[in-house]
Amino acid sequence: MPEETLAERLIAENLGRRDGVLHAGGLDLRGLAERHGTPLFVYDSGLMRRAYRDLSRAVAGFARVYYSVKANPRPEVIRVFREEGAGAEVASAAELRAAIAAGVPPESILFAGPGKSDADIAAAVAAGIAEIHLENREEAARVAEAGRRHGRAVAVAIRVNPGAAAQGGAMRMGGKPSPFGFDEEELDEVADAIEAEPALRLTGLHLFAGTQGLSAPTLLAQWAYGLDLAETLARRIGRPLETIDLGGGLGIPYFQGDAALDLGALEAGVPSLAARAASDPLLAPARIVLEPGRFLVGGAGVYVARVRAVKLSRGSRFVVTDGGMHHHLAASGNLGQIVKRDFPVVAVAEKAGAERSPAAVVGPLCTPLDMLARAAPLPELKAGDLVAVLQSGAYALTASPTGFLGHPPPAEVLVDAGREIAIGA
Ligand SMILES: Cc1ncc(COP(=O)(O)O)c(C=O)c1O
Repeated sequence: MPEETLAERLIAENLGRRDGVLHAGGLDLRGLAERHGTPLFVYDSGLMRRAYRDLSRAVAGFARVYYSVKANPRPEVIRVFREEGAGAEVASAAELRAAIAAGVPPESILFAGPGKSDADIAAAVAAGIAEIHLENREEAARVAEAGRRHGRAVAVAIRVNPGAAAQGGAMRMGGKPSPFGFDEEELDEVADAIEAEPALRLTGLHLFAGTQGLSAPTLLAQWAYGLDLAETLARRIGRPLETIDLGGGLGIPYFQGDAALDLGALEAGVPSLAARAASDPLLAPARIVLEPGRFLVGGAGVYVARVRAVKLSRGSRFVVTDGGMHHHLAASGNLGQIVKRDFPVVAVAEKAGAERSPAAVVGPLCTPLDMLARAAPLPELKAGDLVAVLQSGAYALTASPTGFLGHPPPAEVLVDAGREIAIGA
């Protein structure tokens, strides 16, 4: 028996094939593509809810789960998480508006992100959100200015760029120079400066140590480190914090050989963290927050593209589609990947036992970078057939160069309890 591919495992766990046709949220992707056109993103709210519930259960008694809107900022997507009880982490005034439109109460919204504009800050202060996360001194001064204009002290958190001890995740953000947050070494000094500013109220600490972390022990170590830092800060200011934001960064499997994050292992490590937080008077009153994006929505999305041509070039098969990196930069390997590896890409319709052979799946853009897969194991395909890129719910359309070459935007559909809702812009 050949080894089960990641795509096969994901189809079995999350999607399903009926009569050889791939489904999402119980709906036939061929039918969805007919009705909404291609290229098409399909998001299954059932998978989002499952991810949220599984994670919330694993960290119950320790942390609440907020949704990091940057992963997929469609208000209908945010609303799914809101319905589950999630707060939101936003990074722009537009994301803040989307979160509020989705019904997230301002007191459950945190605003992080380097280089916030005056308009971002004004919108956050006017909305009365829970906390603005400060990333540098100039920003602290501008937030204080906005507080003075509004006649009240603004609740802020210090975002900390952690030292080497907090390492972890595939894309590491700790232990090295960073544009994000204040270096851990200057935590005391920054805390003193904020405390001396009457227009700011220091209420939180924020740590984001890395993204796409698939190791439960590493995440647990990062969270423990976050508690250490929160305790240090609370001691410095002589009172407990209101919020301890331990970041997101929980990963999902994208590539053959990736194992899913072991939620059982996470759950097993949580009670000791919870006990520590509960027994320390400097930590106990704080709400502890996780703010994942990818983990909650990444597995819930499928990108469907229609084949325009299939050609052989010097012995290699190229499947040319109407979809490409202008909608899905991450699948093309051009969104921060050091080594380009293939996302799981499959044929939407496939006969049982069909022969597969490697094919490059390319888009319509005039650049060799526009390649959705380099060697996807695909059955015979012809113009008019459909291919699907799995694991496409997070950092897909929102992180892609949609203006490049002027091709139209994709359709987007949310499947919610068997109903399909067109949600594209
Ligand atoms: C501050 C902050 N929070 C949360 C996230 C979400 O990360 P992930 O989708 O890896 O959970 C990011 C991602 O870059 C981030 O910068």
